[in-house]
Amino acid sequence: MAPPGPAGAHPAPAEPLSRSIFRRFLLMLCSLLTSLYVFYCLAERCRTLSGPVVVVGGLPGGEEGVRTPGDSALARGGPREPAAWPAAQGRRPWQLRPRRRRRRPLGREEAAWEEETPSLAGGPGGSGAGSSAAEPSPGTLALLLDEGSKQLPQAIIIGVKKGGTRALLEFLRVHPDVRAVGAEPHFFDRSYDKGLAWYRDLMPRTLDGQITMEKTPSYFVTREAPARISAMSKDTKLIVVVRDPVTRAISDYTQTLSKRPDIPTFESLTFRNRSAGLIDTSWSAIQIGIYAKHLELWLRHFPRRQMLFVSGERLISDPAGELGRVQDFLGLKRIITDKHFYFNKTKGFPCLKKAEGSSKPHCLGKTKGRTHPDIDPDVVRRLRDFYRPFNRKFYQMTGHDFGWDG
Ligand code: A3P
Repeated sequence: MAPPGPAGAHPAPAEPLSRSIFRRFLLMLCSLLTSLYVFYCLAERCRTLSGPVVVVGGLPGGEEGVRTPGDSALARGGPREPAAWPAAQGRRPWQLRPRRRRRRPLGREEAAWEEETPSLAGGPGGSGAGSSAAEPSPGTLALLLDEGSKQLPQAIIIGVKKGGTRALLEFLRVHPDVRAVGAEPHFFDRSYDKGLAWYRDLMPRTLDGQITMEKTPSYFVTREAPARISAMSKDTKLIVVVRDPVTRAISDYTQTLSKRPDIPTFESLTFRNRSAGLIDTSWSAIQIGIYAKHLELWLRHFPRRQMLFVSGERLISDPAGELGRVQDFLGLKRIITDKHFYFNKTKGFPCLKKAEGSSKPHCLGKTKGRTHPDIDPDVVRRLRDFYRPFNRKFYQMTGHDFGWDG
């Protein structure tokens, strides 16, 4: 039996009072935690707010795409409706875009442009190859945060390898209305089965009026690429940086040689039968330079006016002039001018006075502008003879004489 309490004491009412204070405290703590969580999620740090994942059938190539609510470009109309993507023109009413805001300076990863990156896992400019479909749609949260959203590219630098594609992309990135993924996505040649949602996730965020771009030079010589890009959007603008095919072949060889110093000489790889003068067109260094042949395939899917051919030679001798043509083609204000470049004597190439997101001068890295080995002049002459008819055809097709044949 419990001992009786002290006379006159009333312990019973004190207990509900402390319980009610405790309950209020708990309630306050819960609401504080909830607000913190919501704030955290709005800042896009939250990975657990997954909406229902919807599988979308019928993407080009038969792959299955995945989307989350708010993933509007894929949700409405699918990839065969080109008007769904271009940022500057033809946006559909449901594709809300945030108000324009000043650009953030880019992080180290996005600004990295010295090396060609073979894979995109965690690559610059995007959230990497492994991003999950269960993540909250970045576009939706970005709308709340006024930080833009990821779009499929409206313009692609499709080629050519060793033409000067890195220089062009990096010069273009100086333009405030261009956002480009730094690494080469290789979506339309190597990763097409990953689907458009994966591809779009690699892209940097853009604000209203900005153009999303990427460059993958191997697209130009990939048979499937024209149809695939057209299936994404037949309005995609295509840019090809072309360079004298003989110099391009030597540059290509120089790159391989830098990685594998034990390969045979350029001269021996050039011929199937040297005494008969038979050029080995199956060697990719030679094959890529037959521009007319590759272009034929592209013109089956895209009108010529949607393609721009940039001279790799002029990109070095007059970068501002070539950039002027590119800005016009992309419908951009001519912001990149002579003032942005200086000629770096040590590098032997034009460099940027200020790289994107930085105030310092910047030249391309040491893998761009390598010293080429001396090639037997007779082999060079034979290669010139080989390319001449193809070059002439290419000049006719593009309406532009690039002057490679003297
Ligand atoms: P080389 O290294 O043979 O000289 P890509 O970026 O398509 O791989 O092309 C590489 C080529 O870009 C280089 O080939 C170089 O000639 C050319 N290039 C054009 N403008 C350049 C620049 N400003 N700085 C360095 N290389 C440039």
